[in-house]
Amino acid sequence: MFWIIDGIYEWIDRRLPVSAVLYRVLRDPVPERGSWWYTLGAAIFLLLIIQVVTGIFLLLYYVPSWEGALDSIIYIQQQVFLGWLVRGIHYWNMVMLIILIGAHMSRTFISAAFKSPRELTWLLGVTLLLLMVATAFTGSLLRWDQSGYFDTVVGIKIASWTPLIGPWLAQLWRGSDVIGPATLTRNFALHVWILPAGLLLIAVVHIGLLVIQGQFGSWVNYEPEPPGSPPFTEDEIASRKKLEEEVLDPRSSKVNLPARTTWFYPFHIYKEAVVTLVLFVLVLVTTVLFPAPIDEPVDPTTTTYSPSSMWFLLFEDQLLLLFPGSWLVPIAATIAPGIVITLLFLLPWLERSPDIKPSLRPQAVAFYAVIVGAILVLSLLAASRVYNYDFINSRP
Ligand code: HEM
Repeated sequence: MFWIIDGIYEWIDRRLPVSAVLYRVLRDPVPERGSWWYTLGAAIFLLLIIQVVTGIFLLLYYVPSWEGALDSIIYIQQQVFLGWLVRGIHYWNMVMLIILIGAHMSRTFISAAFKSPRELTWLLGVTLLLLMVATAFTGSLLRWDQSGYFDTVVGIKIASWTPLIGPWLAQLWRGSDVIGPATLTRNFALHVWILPAGLLLIAVVHIGLLVIQGQFGSWVNYEPEPPGSPPFTEDEIASRKKLEEEVLDPRSSKVNLPARTTWFYPFHIYKEAVVTLVLFVLVLVTTVLFPAPIDEPVDPTTTTYSPSSMWFLLFEDQLLLLFPGSWLVPIAATIAPGIVITLLFLLPWLERSPDIKPSLRPQAVAFYAVIVGAILVLSLLAASRVYNYDFINSRP
């Protein structure tokens, strides 16, 4: 059996540089200290694949029309063999992905891993974060139930407050004057094709850059070894020697030389596999304990239904409450989030000092802590009150 597989591999390898690419990726020196933290990126990528695969299975039964969408979701949940499991994984895995991307972004920020030459890696990372949030958001309407409907009402209302292009943007998203079948079709195209294609493509380039530039790790890797550290193993010596040669080569893009390194394969990939497995088991357990929600059928005229915002946008809902009145609304709707997103994109050019230790960059760390703290406090405030009806009735 194995000789057939070997034969096929050899045949392909003579035509495509499979071994060369695998050697380049797997035999890469990676910083060793604190390396459990550098497993989150790979976990995100693997869970993203699971998200795509479960999404494809859901597509086998999902009906993307306003008459059939909710019934098809109920059918998947109640009738299709293991449909509840696939749908639950798709739902909770998305929650996990957003949390992990937040954690991965924080770790690369605290480590100052975005500094030269990794500016583009960071830039693509911020794009991935936005694409992921947009993917989760557009998926909500596909259920065509009350919660998905009201999520979209708020989202389109926010878009409509964008200075200059707001009404045009809202119309483009709705596809007609009201949220209806055309909105569902557009959200479907975004959620199923356009956003996932962008996510996968950009994620591959993001990881490709990492292979080219090498993993930075964090500042601890560039500090002297603490007293009492174990002596270097043979693998550590060999991987460090290879990295030294690469850093000295003027054609290489690698510039950082951590004190202690090891081989990506088998040492680091093992940690990535363990972390991904633990996270996936957590998704599975959550799926079994808390089935993915299905709400009441869409009824825009309801007077009894009490909607709530999507959990990862609760802070934005609270911000909207703090800026009422027509001329203040755009500040909360688009201007404040727009400024934060622009600052995130520009971060590698705003923080230009070569310092990497958090204690040497207190302003940057304090700014980040204030933003994260504000998001948490605003989210908690929004979660503890009733839905912000004033905003959905506001007019740009
Ligand atoms: C779909 C989303 C994402 C995927 C699949 C992904 C994947 C990865 C992987 C596999 C790594 C190497 C391992 C690690 O450091 O954990 C990495 C590194 C990195 N990522 Fe991401 N990432 C994503 C989102 C982001 C976001 C949102 C940011 C920041 C805004 C970001 C910034 C970075 C940076 C700066 C590095 C280099 C770290 C270093 O060299 O030590 N990534 N990413």
